[in-house]
Amino acid sequence: ADGGDDDENNEIVAGTAPGFEPFEMVIDGELVGFDIDLLEAVIDETEYELAGWQEIEFDGLIPSLENENIDVIAAAMTITEEREETIAFSDPYYSADQTVLVQTGGDVQPAELADLEGHNVGAQSGTTGEGIVEDELIGEGLIDEGDYDSYDNYVLAIEELERGTLDAIVIDEPVAESFADDRDVEIAFTFETGEEYGFGVRQGEDDLQQALSEGITAVRESSQYDDITREWFDE
Ligand code: ARG
Repeated sequence: ADGGDDDENNEIVAGTAPGFEPFEMVIDGELVGFDIDLLEAVIDETEYELAGWQEIEFDGLIPSLENENIDVIAAAMTITEEREETIAFSDPYYSADQTVLVQTGGDVQPAELADLEGHNVGAQSGTTGEGIVEDELIGEGLIDEGDYDSYDNYVLAIEELERGTLDAIVIDEPVAESFADDRDVEIAFTFETGEEYGFGVRQGEDDLQQALSEGITAVRESSQYDDITREWFDE
């Protein structure tokens, strides 16, 4: 899609990485969540048409965008300088910090990152949570590289936490809250990272990037953003 006048060229394919509730998950075989509803509402405000969704592992999203398998990423992806070296983002649409999740009532009850010393920690491959493990835990010598388990999907890490075969995971706060509601895991502590999610597009797709940002503004100014938030978060 190049954003030209031809309708066909306005068709875009979105990519996401489900297993990240309530932003994107598969329920009864159907892809649903905050990001799904939000992107669809945003695209409705633009001249673009959404041709469909592709489910891709999180660390495969940026390569898929670059390969043109997809045209936009809607995956609770944090806008980072590192990612902006290869892709571009819309304006932010959601803010989040990071948390450490542990087994409910388990032996490991850290109050801060330093308390994770010597423990087994997990995160999803390619996420900012993984970046924290690498920089703040391995980088600071608190845990060895071998103590870090990288998962393709956070759901797998949650299962290991519940089983007690993993001590802690680093994950975005809204997702941690959602897992804590329906799984046998609890938030040990939250730490501020000031992350903001944006929709990812290829560099140079300025029309699409701008249309998405304007669409976000329009959806925020109407009641749609609040409606979608109410639908997916208990507030
Ligand atoms: N916000 C974090 C990041 O950008 C985690 C996103 C994970 N998203 C997902 N759909 N699994 O790295």
